[in-house]
Parts: sequence; structure tokens; C-alpha cells
Amino acid sequence: MGIIGVLRLLGAVTLLMCSVFSAGVAGQAGKTMDLGTVLAGEKNLTTFYDLIRKFPELLLQLPNLNGVTIVAPTNEAFERIPLTSLNAVWKADDASVAVPILQYHIVMGQFAADAMVPGTPVFSPTLLSDPRWTNLTSGGQLVRADKQPDGFVALTTGSGSRSSLVPFSKDGRRDLRFTGGIVQAVDNLLIPPTALNETLTAYSDLSFLGALYAAGLYDEFAQCGASGNCTIFAPSVRAFRAVNSTLSSLSRDDLKKVLRYHMIPGQVLTSNLLTNGTILQSAASDTAERQLRVRRAGNYLYLNSAQVVQQDLLFANGVAHLLDNVLNPFLDPTAAAAQTPNPALGTQPPVFSTGSADAAYATVTDANAINSLPQPFTTALPCTVSCPEPTVTDLAASSGRTTHSTKSTSSSKGPTAGARCTGLAQPAVAAALALGVGVGGYMV
Ligand SMILES: *[C@@H]1O[C@H](CO)[C@@H](O)[C@H](O)[C@H]1NC(C)=O
Ligand SMILES: *[C@@H]1O[C@H](CO)[C@@H](O)[C@H](O)[C@H]1NC(C)=O
Ligand SMILES: *[C@@H]1O[C@H](CO)[C@@H](O)[C@H](O)[C@H]1NC(C)=O
Ligand SMILES: *[C@@H]1O[C@H](CO)[C@@H](O)[C@H](O)[C@H]1NC(C)=O
Ligand SMILES: *[C@@H]1O[C@H](CO)[C@@H](O)[C@H](O)[C@H]1NC(C)=O
Ligand SMILES: *[C@@H]1O[C@H](CO)[C@@H](O)[C@H](O)[C@H]1NC(C)=O
Repeated sequence: MGIIGVLRLLGAVTLLMCSVFSAGVAGQAGKTMDLGTVLAGEKNLTTFYDLIRKFPELLLQLPNLNGVTIVAPTNEAFERIPLTSLNAVWKADDASVAVPILQYHIVMGQFAADAMVPGTPVFSPTLLSDPRWTNLTSGGQLVRADKQPDGFVALTTGSGSRSSLVPFSKDGRRDLRFTGGIVQAVDNLLIPPTALNETLTAYSDLSFLGALYAAGLYDEFAQCGASGNCTIFAPSVRAFRAVNSTLSSLSRDDLKKVLRYHMIPGQVLTSNLLTNGTILQSAASDTAERQLRVRRAGNYLYLNSAQVVQQDLLFANGVAHLLDNVLNPFLDPTAAAAQTPNPALGTQPPVFSTGSADAAYATVTDANAINSLPQPFTTALPCTVSCPEPTVTDLAASSGRTTHSTKSTSSSKGPTAGARCTGLAQPAVAAALALGVGVGGYMV
């Protein structure tokens, strides 16, 4: 950029900073301060204030001066970065890194803790719309906020990381107003949601991820097909165990159809948007197999008869929800019996036929025993770092734990060719290693 360009930019920045930092002095009730004064007055927000001044381009993008919430991590939060998954990427001196991460801290709309209703989560877009981080186009990447009955407010961001609003030094309150909106102080940086593989790994949902690779659909899901954003219903490992033998015997085309029935392209449906009775159009190819029905019963949320067991996993290009069962596109969605949940049951029955080994796996409830069980489709996961040996299946076989590990099926199925990585016996640990998530206690 030439000197003229720099001067122009600085000029524009100065103009805008002037308006953000000091607009409203006239005509306000006399109490509301500009952003600069608010931040300068908070001893625990000096690192953030320095960054805002170092990267004034952040303020160039404010949509208007009345509708933003500046989420300001405390100085301690910045010191804690090495304990978080941001450690691998954060560079305070590199605008290409710091600016998008700080953009994720500028939330559109006023996020007043006092006005939030306990039990009703709020999802708000942020200024983060850099295509290296997200392809959400109408508004940037989302932040989820939850207020608890005791007034505590937590923000949930990428891979389930959490930050809490902390009171300001001055008056011990939150919701510090400035002329352009609200400033909230938080005890941890907000972590922008990451790619689908990282997100599913952080939540230990490796069978669904493996199935996507096995069917050759990973990129389509991570990029949300042509629309660039989507909602994904991701069955849990347990859900895959319940129907593994059936799914494993499907043709690749049928497996694709099953998996595509779990994606709603072109819509980012956070849980608040999944209202009772909504009919969703999935990405499954055949029109007769495309519909999914949302049902609510009490506090429970269902897609067809599968229950959502974990809501609102924000990932780079949308949102995912974990299900307790694999959805079956080959059933008539209007056939009530097969597709209607029974809220009296803790886990809904599978809607595929199940093999006896599958049924046995699905009944194991002891946490330690579950960790050592084989996870369907994980043999299809690409090997990313160092691939531990021996495999989960081999371990199970050598300890005689199951009768399921005689590798009778031929390896002629195309999808699993290539590097294998089946050693993820401790998915949570693997996730923590890959992401650093959990080290600071951020896993939800
Ligand atoms: C956004 O889309 C572009 C073009 O398809 C792609 O290269 C990029 O990886 C996508 N970004 C994310 C975060 O998925
Ligand atoms: C998702 O994609 C659709 C279709 O491309 C678009 O109309 C919509 O605005 C996008 N939504 C978000 C949140 O980016
Ligand atoms: C500010 O930081 C100091 C030192 O970490 C801490 O003792 C104090 O409680 C903080 N004040 C507020 C209001 O968070
Ligand atoms: C996710 O995929 C990217 C490549 O697209 C890879 O670099 C990364 O290691 C993967 N992460 C996990 C947790 O598998
Ligand atoms: C959801 O809709 C169904 C069918 O219309 C109805 O029976 C049920 O009571 C509704 N649930 C809630 C929580 O409103
Ligand atoms: C799933 O079923 C296939 C085919 O029957 C079998 O080869 C595989 O070992 C099973 N996987 C698990 C984790 O049980």
C-alpha cells in the first residue's frame, strides 16, 4: 500500500475512532462514556484496550454505533492463552491472526446480562466473517450466551469453550454502557469455532466423523455443500454402535444417502430455531427422503424419533447437534410409528435393524468399559499426527473382551483405503491434545 493509501486509511480510522470513542458526548444524559474512556478506566482491561488501539481497523467495521457489545477479555484472560486452544494460533503482533480473533469479540446487538432471561440462550452474530474462519455470510460467526438462575452468564464458543462475564472494577456490575453499546468483561478469550473435524473431535464424536470419511463426504459436510453454511445432526458414537453392522453393510451410495439425511444445507439452525413441528429439508438426494421433523416434548428436542443429546456445537460453517440415534432416510417420514419419539424412554430405539453384537455394545453403560469399546467407522479417519499402535480393535481382540473383532469382513471396501488411524481409544484425551481444549477446564 502506498503512502497515500496509508494516509487515507489512517484518516478514515481517525474519523471513525473519533466517532466511536467520543460520539454521543453531546446530547446524551451526560453519564454515558465513549469507548476509549470506558476501557481506559478499567485497570483489568488494559491489554484489550492496547490491542484495540493497535488494530483500529477493527472499529472500521462496526455496523452502527448503537448496536454492539464489545466483549473485552481481562488481562488475566490474555495471560491464560497458553492454556487454551488459541495458543497454537494467537499472535498479538500479527494482524492477520489477531484481527479476526478480536472481531469475534465484537458482538452485534446489545448483550445486556440484566436483560437476559435465565434458561433462554441467546445466539448473536459477531463481526467475524473472514472466510479463513467461517463462510457464514448473513452476519458473522455466532456466540451463544446463557444466563443461569443465579445471574451468572456464560458465553459458549468454539469446541465448547466457555467464558464468563465478570464484573467491572468500578462498581462491581456488568453491562458497562458506552456510547456505541455495551462493554462486557470476560475471564477467557472467546475461541472462534473451528473446522468440523476439530469440533467433532473435541466432542469425541468420532464415529460420525469416520463415517463421513468412509463415504467420501467429509469435505461436503465441512464446507456445507454449495450453500456454504448448514446445520448438521451428528449421531453419537453410541448411536453408531447400535446400528454398526447394518450401516457397515450398506453400499457406499446408500451410506451417503443416510449421512446426507443428517445435513440441512443453507440454514444455521441453532436450538432456539428448532421449533416444534418444523419440517426440514435435508441434503439427501431423493426428494421423498429429504424431510426431517422437529418435535419437542417437555425439555426434550427430537429430529424424527432421535433425541438431541447435545445442542449447539458451533463449527466454522454452521452448527451441529448430537443425536442419540442414526436417522434413517429409507423410512417414510410420515409413517408416524417409526418416526415418533417416546419421551418416556431415556434413549430412543434405533430405526435400523440391528445385529446382535450391535445390541450388546449399545447396552454397555460403565464409563471405563465404554472407553475401551471399539468405535464404529474410526478406521476411516485420516491419520493426522502420530498414529498410535495397536488399534482399538486389536486391543479388544487381544484382551478377549469381545467376540466382534475377528476381522472377517474383506477390506475391499474402497472408502477406507489410505492412511488409517484407529488408535483413538481415549477420544477426549485425543481432543485435548489436538486442541488444548479441556486443559483449562473449558469442556462443557
Ligand atoms: C470458505 O469457502 C472457501 C471457498 O469455498 C474455502 O476455500 C474456505 O476453506 C471456506 N472456509 C471455511 C472456514 O470453511
Ligand atoms: C446460508 O446460506 C444461504 C444460501 O446460500 C443464505 O441465504 C443464508 O443467508 C446463509 N446464512 C448464513 C447465516 O450465513
Ligand atoms: C482485577 O484484577 C485483579 C488482579 O488479577 C483482581 O484481584 C481483581 O479482583 C480484578 N478486579 C475485578 C473487578 O475483576
Ligand atoms: C482437520 O483437518 C485438517 C485438514 O483439513 C487437519 O490439518 C487437522 O489436523 C484435522 N484435525 C483433526 C482433529 O483431525
Ligand atoms: C409438539 O407438537 C405435537 C404435535 O403437533 C404436539 O402433540 C405436542 O404437544 C407439541 N409439543 C410441545 C412441547 O408443544
Ligand atoms: C462394525 O461392523 C463391521 C461389519 O460387520 C465390522 O467389521 C466392524 O468391526 C464393526 N465395528 C465395530 C466398532 O464394532
